[in-house]
Amino acid sequence: MSDTPAKTILITGGGGGIGSVAASAFAARGYRVAVCDVRLDAAQATVEAVRSAGGQADAFGADIGDAAQVGAMFERIVAQYGRLDAAFNNAGLGGGGIPLADISEEDWERNLRVNLSGTWRCMKHEIKLMLAQGGGAIVNNCSILGLNGGANASYTATKHGIAGLTKSAAISYAGRGVRVNAVCPGLIEAGLGLNVINRGEDALRRFISLHPAGRAGTALEVVKAVLWLCSDEASFIHGHMLPVDGGYSSH
Ligand SMILES: NC(=O)c1ccc[n+]([C@@H]2O[C@H](COP(=O)([O-])OP(=O)(O)OC[C@H]3O[C@@H](n4cnc5c(N)ncnc54)[C@H](O)[C@@H]3O)[C@@H](O)[C@H]2O)c1
Repeated sequence: MSDTPAKTILITGGGGGIGSVAASAFAARGYRVAVCDVRLDAAQATVEAVRSAGGQADAFGADIGDAAQVGAMFERIVAQYGRLDAAFNNAGLGGGGIPLADISEEDWERNLRVNLSGTWRCMKHEIKLMLAQGGGAIVNNCSILGLNGGANASYTATKHGIAGLTKSAAISYAGRGVRVNAVCPGLIEAGLGLNVINRGEDALRRFISLHPAGRAGTALEVVKAVLWLCSDEASFIHGHMLPVDGGYSSH
């Protein structure tokens, strides 16, 4: 048996479509997984699935939009694991497909609070921990709408903001062992993607036609990119916005 301690990863939004698949995949690679979600019951369901497959995971109920809750979560991570090797900042809200002039103050604030400020806040804690221990890998779940325009204005704005956080942090910390990258999924048959898929045949056909591969992706296809970006195989990859989008962003 190896004396090397298991690597630890934090997955935010770990109770959701992509996050739960990520938790299982990282656990299957031997990671201990801290599963964070604002819906504690969803985080616990992911943890149960990981444990029943023989993996290690713990549930953390926290709203990434709340500084005190995020602070408490990281205190618990330090107390429980002592280190954080990787983080997948995946928690996010959809924007409801609302064009800019129709967005209410409440919708705008809601999206910014979770998608942008929440991602920044988690990155801040993760980077401090990783710098103190000598390195780590962070992957943000952005979107093709972090690379391209979309009618969904608040979502598109927050995802472009996540692209900015990813590149800025990559530049600041590349020389100190912390790699920061992002995945940019197209339409995925899970979580928020189901809102589009369930919108009806016509809407789905229009959306799929933007993907040269002619189909939506799977959560596992996104997660495989995240696994790679967190691994030593990607040791010289910094600040990369990796599309996982069936060719959408090549137009
Ligand atoms: N599914 C897609 O087609 C698609 C495409 C591109 C990008 N994404 C991105 O993937 C990520 C995961 O989305 P998903 O599709 O799995 O949807 P999802 O809704 O299933 O997962 C999101 C999870 O985040 C959690 N969450 C929401 N607000 C939170 C908060 N304040 N604090 C902590 N957790 C919170 C939710 O409870 C949920 O479990 C999102 O960032 C989304 O923007 C998804």
